[in-house]
Amino acid sequence: PHIIVFISGNGSNLQAIIDAVQSATLKCKIDLVVSNRKSAYGLTRAEQAGIPTLVFPLKPYRDAGKTRIEYDIDLANKIRDYKPDLIVLAGWMHILSKEFLDHFNDNIINIHPALPGQFDGANAIERAYEAFKKGEITKTGVMVHKVIPDVDKGESLIIEEVPIFESDTLEDLEERIHSVEHRHLVLFKMEDSNANAKRKRTLDIVVDTPN
Ligand code: GRF
Repeated sequence: PHIIVFISGNGSNLQAIIDAVQSATLKCKIDLVVSNRKSAYGLTRAEQAGIPTLVFPLKPYRDAGKTRIEYDIDLANKIRDYKPDLIVLAGWMHILSKEFLDHFNDNIINIHPALPGQFDGANAIERAYEAFKKGEITKTGVMVHKVIPDVDKGESLIIEEVPIFESDTLEDLEERIHSVEHRHLVLFKMEDSNANAKRKRTLDIVVDTPN
């Protein structure tokens, strides 16, 4: 199977995927890394691994008075020739509209540093940390989920709880969550159930249960 990874920043989750592909833990090929930010360090990680990159920022669209949907349609058109079996959002900080999602037949997954239904959207770790300090929650978590137009709300494929301790600084919690994310994101295995059929098939994403 062929995948495309979308990033916006550091790309430590991308690195986890690259490492898993290089060690053949994950049997797929990363055909392209897309970033909406030119300065994303993940682009350097991709280049070091010999993976082609595409930088596709929103700003020129905003400056030209174009809509997010126009951006999404152009982005979909730029990558559709790769015919990815799966798109992995690994720290991609844009919401993708239905117009984009429809192009890729539901085969898009996202990693989110919170449990389902908690802290959807940006700054999830910080918000969980604050909620813990206020006594509102005792734990947080990580999930990999299918992407639907509602932010961070698609069906969960992998969920793991992450404890928060009284002594934690925000940095401690971030570090604990990121290490769970890096282990998690590479647990998906793709089974091409219908390899010879048209590319429009549905791809089964088989997920190993974490120990
Ligand atoms: C991760 O915490 C991811 O869950 C969130 O953004 C962060 C990206 O980190 N959506 P990185 O760029 O993979 O290091």
